[in-house]
Amino acid sequence: MPVSCDSQIVDQLKKHGQDHLLRHWEELNDSQRQHLQEQCSSIELDEFKKLIAQAFDEDSDKSIDPAAISPLTQAIRLPEAGEEQAWTEARQTGHEMLDAGKVGAILVAGGQGSRLGFPHPKGMFPVGPVTDRTLFQIFFEQLVALSNKHGVRIPYFIMTSDATHQETIDFLKENDWFGYPEEDVFLFKQGTMPAVDDQEGKILLSEKHSIAMSPDGHGGLLNALHRAKLFEEMQRRGIEYLYYHQVDNPCVQMCDPAMLGFHKQRDAEISTKVVAKRNAGEKVGVLAEVNGTQMIIEYSDLSEEMSRDTDETGGLKYWAGNIAIHVMNRDLLERLATGETRLPVHIAHKKVSHVLSDGSQKEADSPNAYKFERFIFDSIPLAKNPLVIETSRQEEFNPVKNAEGDDSPATSKAALNARAHRWLGEAGYNVDENATIEISPLIALEPDDLRDKLQPEQLEGESIVLQP
Ligand code: UTP
Repeated sequence: MPVSCDSQIVDQLKKHGQDHLLRHWEELNDSQRQHLQEQCSSIELDEFKKLIAQAFDEDSDKSIDPAAISPLTQAIRLPEAGEEQAWTEARQTGHEMLDAGKVGAILVAGGQGSRLGFPHPKGMFPVGPVTDRTLFQIFFEQLVALSNKHGVRIPYFIMTSDATHQETIDFLKENDWFGYPEEDVFLFKQGTMPAVDDQEGKILLSEKHSIAMSPDGHGGLLNALHRAKLFEEMQRRGIEYLYYHQVDNPCVQMCDPAMLGFHKQRDAEISTKVVAKRNAGEKVGVLAEVNGTQMIIEYSDLSEEMSRDTDETGGLKYWAGNIAIHVMNRDLLERLATGETRLPVHIAHKKVSHVLSDGSQKEADSPNAYKFERFIFDSIPLAKNPLVIETSRQEEFNPVKNAEGDDSPATSKAALNARAHRWLGEAGYNVDENATIEISPLIALEPDDLRDKLQPEQLEGESIVLQP
């Protein structure tokens, strides 16, 4: 165990004016010293210096010039009556991509889920309207059903973080990976970035032996895949397309063949699913163009006036709300992880409690520090032929984000129940409209899977669960 800190680390810290991190060294025990030394050596200080400079550079205002923003010029909208042929063909292409074993799935599950306030990884949240079916179970059951349907293995790459990693592994093991082959699941941790104070750019200590680190955002995915050598794994398995989704949306249609098919047919490097905004004021990023390049404009960057702007049909000009479902080419991800062009870093001014030089703890009651994050959607303007595909909100986007109100467990469960009613109706069954229904993905991935399969007694009662 280190009595004194590694001299190379000390030199680096001194060179960058960050040697205050070792200020309490003498008071630490062996394991605390080990921990602090590891944290210090994990920071690439030469690179990090540039980010600190960026945080303090008043000229590096990253807000987008409103005059440069214009509505999307191209998007695949939901089909009107008579327009279904293109969707049928895209679905066919998607089925072929799946049959050929070229598709993998990515789940980003490293977030802290602070708005929901659930004291476990969000994937463990029970969202089934009747049973305690968790978000993780819904995703894994979809993959079981899809891999059986197409007779292929679909590797599932799950990004966790320090906050979610161990509990996620333990939970999935306890549940036998929900019947999915363990060798097809890859859990890997995203990176972290230190927070710096907003006066001098000094890295903050959360405790005497620990740097105030926070997850590097969902855009940390690219570095994390690279570090864990998962691009090699994808290549070895012949995976060319990755279906990316977030942990909070139980209605995601994993590996949606129509989306995969359009993506391939249009030779896109990235495709994004969107839903029409509920109203002009909805706080969601929108797909738009900036100087002709497609990207996501965060709601805070779109003026109220622009967000209300309508076209000649009366529809919102900035209608396309991002729901964070993408198809991405493996090549694109690998290029952005290892090539010259990387995802930009976003700097946020936040409250970070920390240890003062006299060793006392300082709680932050107003923003006092800069945190650094990357966002996965910044890959859109860096991709060739980015594509936007509209889907139905009620079918595919009902996330669990907040404890109450919009996008909460109550709305998400209600949406799953309503979707189950719709699917049964479409498949030709009559069900009591007051019944609460839950359909396992193992029984159906779409309404057609239910047709002519169910007995009347399976649909009786107030609570109906369709599962094997
Ligand atoms: P959110 O932006 O909703 O953040 O993440 P969150 O941490 O889950 O929730 P709040 O804001 O604290 O309430 C969107 C998706 O990105 C993942 C989340 O797990 C979720 O699937 N994510 C977010 C990461 O994997 N890593 C991060 O650093 C941030």
